[in-house]
Amino acid sequence: MNVAVKRRFLCFTIVVLIVWIVLWRLKSQAKLTVNREIIKIAPAVISVFYEALCPDSKNFVLKQLTPTVEKLPDWVYLELIPYGKATTTTNPDGTFSFECQHGQRECEANMYHACSIDVVKDNKTMLAIIDCMITDNLNPEAAMTKCVKELADDETLQSINKCFSSQQSKDLLKMYGEKTNALRPRMRFVPTVTIDGSQGTQALILKNLYLEVCKVLSGGGPMPKECEDNM
Ligand SMILES: *[C@@H]1O[C@H](CO)[C@@H](O)[C@H](O)[C@H]1NC(C)=O
Repeated sequence: MNVAVKRRFLCFTIVVLIVWIVLWRLKSQAKLTVNREIIKIAPAVISVFYEALCPDSKNFVLKQLTPTVEKLPDWVYLELIPYGKATTTTNPDGTFSFECQHGQRECEANMYHACSIDVVKDNKTMLAIIDCMITDNLNPEAAMTKCVKELADDETLQSINKCFSSQQSKDLLKMYGEKTNALRPRMRFVPTVTIDGSQGTQALILKNLYLEVCKVLSGGGPMPKECEDNM
């Protein structure tokens, strides 16, 4: 081959290579867009193990959890577990007694939380009631009454009171205790928060829940628009 032919051959190869790369990139971009539309990424499950009278729980719920749920309404599924470092004792007569980190008042508050979570089916209203109660939960009954009157209706108030004064509230709290004790690794700090069942790096989750949820949602693939827009 003479020099001219060699040069032409080289040019040809480079052009083919460039065209191939451009087409390949276009194709993978198209695939990403299609994927996002067709394959609905499953929402991330945020589970919050907390206590009604714990200041760190209060801060987390108000400053991390609620804003994250508001930014990613279609991408998260919320599970609240109001129990924390409480203990459950089954008495000889089959009834349950509870002891809570911040005293009996906290057990009461946790029960009002448990009953609200159980009774209020609309999860937006439920979270609003939890937010409202945890803001000032020192008088659990008064907080519940005020918040439910403000954010729901009398029927809901009656249902929550009925739950609280019956076996239902004890059954719920016992169930939350079992869920909390099933955490692996075990709960060290209150609140403990898992995303899709994983405790990940707690310090990061507690500091910026939104970012950690978006990381889980994207999982190496396309990221929901609601994440991209805020990052
Ligand atoms: C609220 O319920 C809807 C419908 O079941 C669900 O799609 C959404 O993920 C839930 N939101 C939270 C924060 O749990």
